[in-house]
Amino acid sequence: MKTITLESTESTNKIAYKLALDGAEHGSSVMAKMQTAGRGRLGKSWISVRGKGLYYSLVLRPDIDLLDYSKITLLAGLVVANVLEEMSEIPIGLKWPNDLYVDGKKLGGILVESSPLNCDEADRFLIVGIGINVKHSNVDFPEEIRNASTSLKLLLNTEFDTSLIVAKIQERILLRIKEVERSGFNEVLS
Ligand code: BTN
Repeated sequence: MKTITLESTESTNKIAYKLALDGAEHGSSVMAKMQTAGRGRLGKSWISVRGKGLYYSLVLRPDIDLLDYSKITLLAGLVVANVLEEMSEIPIGLKWPNDLYVDGKKLGGILVESSPLNCDEADRFLIVGIGINVKHSNVDFPEEIRNASTSLKLLLNTEFDTSLIVAKIQERILLRIKEVERSGFNEVLS
């Protein structure tokens, strides 16, 4: 299980996707201190300020039915919200499908990308890309999203350790995947 930490990269999802195409195993991950071309959902970009945010992508090769792949998106959102709630002790909202919101402001987001459609069944994978605003002050956000964004620091006046958050999220996602492989999604998602 490979873990790569980078000072800077275009997009951790892009690197993780390449690694997965090259055969990286389930649980391999990429983390970066900054991204120069962070990807958001719906073709948007994800502004990634150096050292302020958590930029992390996890390669998953779950042993589940292809039809259930989309549920991994929900599972990832729930895990991230739960971990952040436990660490911050504030309620974290999950807006469909997996935007993280507090008091109506965006705290983070998740971009799940899957292997090419023509991929052999045995080679299928998912990349779960997670972006969380951790140490941002208001001025760290571009003006156009400043009023709509928040960070753990803005909410709690505390600078959380991004590596610690990543470790907890990774451990929990991999644990939940094992559970769904064993007993399906019903229990985990309920
Ligand atoms: C969203 O639009 O809300 C999803 C944002 C996902 C951003 C993360 S940051 C780490 C990973 N690498 C990317 O390029 N995007 C995701």
